[in-house]
Amino acid sequence: MSLLRNLLLAGVAAASLSGMAYAANDMSPEAVAERTKPVGSVYTAADLEGIVDTAAAGSSSEPAEPRSGDAVFTAACSACHATGAAGAPIKGDAAAWESRIAKGRDTLLNHALNGFNAMPPRGACGNCSDEEIANAVDYMIDAI
Ligand code: HEC
Repeated sequence: MSLLRNLLLAGVAAASLSGMAYAANDMSPEAVAERTKPVGSVYTAADLEGIVDTAAAGSSSEPAEPRSGDAVFTAACSACHATGAAGAPIKGDAAAWESRIAKGRDTLLNHALNGFNAMPPRGACGNCSDEEIANAVDYMIDAI
């Protein structure tokens, strides 16, 4: 189904739902107010309390959870390891990975952290923690 058709159906559904509370010919002040109210509603911070933790958003002192191997791979490794750019072994290419995996996970992790020939240290990811790099290495190893 096309996106446009989905949007239209959603719109029709929303319109018919909002009109359900009062009959179309109901002239009571409540019914008229309901029919003539603005289409959108504005949410104040108070409305959002409990829905969104507004106080914590963006100012959390909790350390962020380490990103998954999948997420780190997509963000920082896929440019080379999904394409083979610079001669990088492609994720899921068993022939390219088996001899590397034979070197042992520690060696692969060391090379991922410190660089190895054309493999840049940390895949040039400036904001990846050691744990996140390890998650991405495991993600590629597990794909074999
Ligand atoms: C700029 C391209 C590039 C990016 C980005 C990149 N790599 Fe690599 N990677 C390479 C290349 C090229 C090699 C092959 C190096 C060789 O064997 O000479 C490689 C090899 C590796 C190896 C195997 C090392 C070995 O000892 O055989 C691992 C593990 C690895 N990369 C992990 C990662 C991880 C994890 C990321 C993302 C955080 C990443 N790479 C991002 C280019 C890249």
